Amino acid sequence: MQDDLARVLFDEATILRRLDQIAAEISRDYRERELTVIAILNGSLIFMADLLRRIPLPLKLDCLSVASYHGGVETTGELIFRQVALPDIAGRHILILDDILDSGITLSAVRQKLETAGPASIRVCVLLQKKKLRRRTVDADYVGFEIEDEFVVGYGLDYAERYRNLPCIGVLRKELITGSS
Ligand code: IMP
Ligand code: MG
Repeated sequence: MQDDLARVLFDEATILRRLDQIAAEISRDYRERELTVIAILNGSLIFMADLLRRIPLPLKLDCLSVASYHGGVETTGELIFRQVALPDIAGRHILILDDILDSGITLSAVRQKLETAGPASIRVCVLLQKKKLRRRTVDADYVGFEIEDEFVVGYGLDYAERYRNLPCIGVLRKELITGSS
């Protein structure tokens, strides 16, 4: 699998060191407020597991399953919520976790939807944020790493559902992306 990468951006040790820092920041910020984490599946699964185990606070966890990609590397712009009912978040302090902030479509739609359920506050935490002009304005409050506008896989991130179990994050070789020349 690792042979399919053009280059590795962050190895596992680097990712985990950064998670120690973000977890410390989150733990400090939520010391006096009860935290409810909403993780966006599937991309944030591995990030979520490693991050939450570094936050020594009582917290609640819920997951939302959404899709926007349909196997390609560009967002279709349309977001599908796979479950009908939202978690009960009225009056709670919400931290949304996602793998990557790219066009912003996913996080702005999720945020808007959660806002209708009357939470006390909402913040956003992403492992990766692409440096680019976003199609929707969303600010992440906690960001693991800023990356160039390249397609990356590993550590939960997929291409056509593959590579999520790579322990590192890397740029996928261009010739492996269908439709690229
Ligand atoms: P957005 O809605 O364009 O911000 O994209 C968010 C979702 O698209 C993420 O949660 C990922 O699942 C997927 N995505 C965006 N960029 C990448 C990438 O470089 N590699 C893998 N998945 C990505
Ligand atoms: Mg994906």
